[in-house]
Amino acid sequence: MSEHSRRPSTSAAAEAPAMWTFFRQWLKNPRAMAALAPSSRQLAQRMVAQLPAGSRRVIELGAGTGVFTRALLDHGIAPSDLLVLELNAELADLLRQRFPDVRVVNGDARDLVELAGQIGFEIGGGVDAVVSGLGFLAMPRPIQQAILRAVFAALGPDRPLIQFTYGPSSPLPRDLLAEMDLGVRRASMTWLNVPPATVYVYTRNRSTPVRAVRAKS
Ligand SMILES: C[S@@+](CC[C@H](N)C(=O)[O-])C[C@H]1O[C@@H](n2cnc3c(N)ncnc32)[C@H](O)[C@@H]1O
Repeated sequence: MSEHSRRPSTSAAAEAPAMWTFFRQWLKNPRAMAALAPSSRQLAQRMVAQLPAGSRRVIELGAGTGVFTRALLDHGIAPSDLLVLELNAELADLLRQRFPDVRVVNGDARDLVELAGQIGFEIGGGVDAVVSGLGFLAMPRPIQQAILRAVFAALGPDRPLIQFTYGPSSPLPRDLLAEMDLGVRRASMTWLNVPPATVYVYTRNRSTPVRAVRAKS
């Protein structure tokens, strides 16, 4: 029986090992993890609430222990229509155990287009949203830019990137949004997260295709 069909326990006791795994990864690489602990279920619900109506195919970036993954499946996204990318190998293994029917790729969000192609996950017109748990604030601009290029190369026209931040404003700088012709909307915030978090939604102003260019670092 899969994780999707079996309702997993969501008690604090059941989540404790995953939280510990997350914290250990933070000790190893605080910059990449960008948070001490996984997001709350309330934040996950706020993120998923921003999916366009009728969304079917979704990509999740930086899934950590899978709080947003769980919320996406609960929302009705089929496991086969979800692609999850996680840079940290230990967390990617944990995600595979927790969500055996979901395609979990241990890889870098900058390589999204290539990685999706390698596993036959069709991108472009068919992807309805990208849900991101990435810590953009901790990333240098060239990496932010490379990830945005990959995201908007993968997304269908007018489809959103849904992102949260702990900061007081958009985690992506204005000049980068202008350069990529992206619009941003502050969607909601929740105090029921440590720390409190705000959800932003980014969409392209034009429908000319974006080409993903991997910035070597
Ligand atoms: C702030 S944590 C969020 C985890 C989870 N989404 C949550 O909200 O609890 C950021 C996650 O992004 C992953 N990550 C960081 N850089 C990445 C990259 N370039 N590509 C894919 N995942 C990345 C980290 O390993 C970490 O699991």
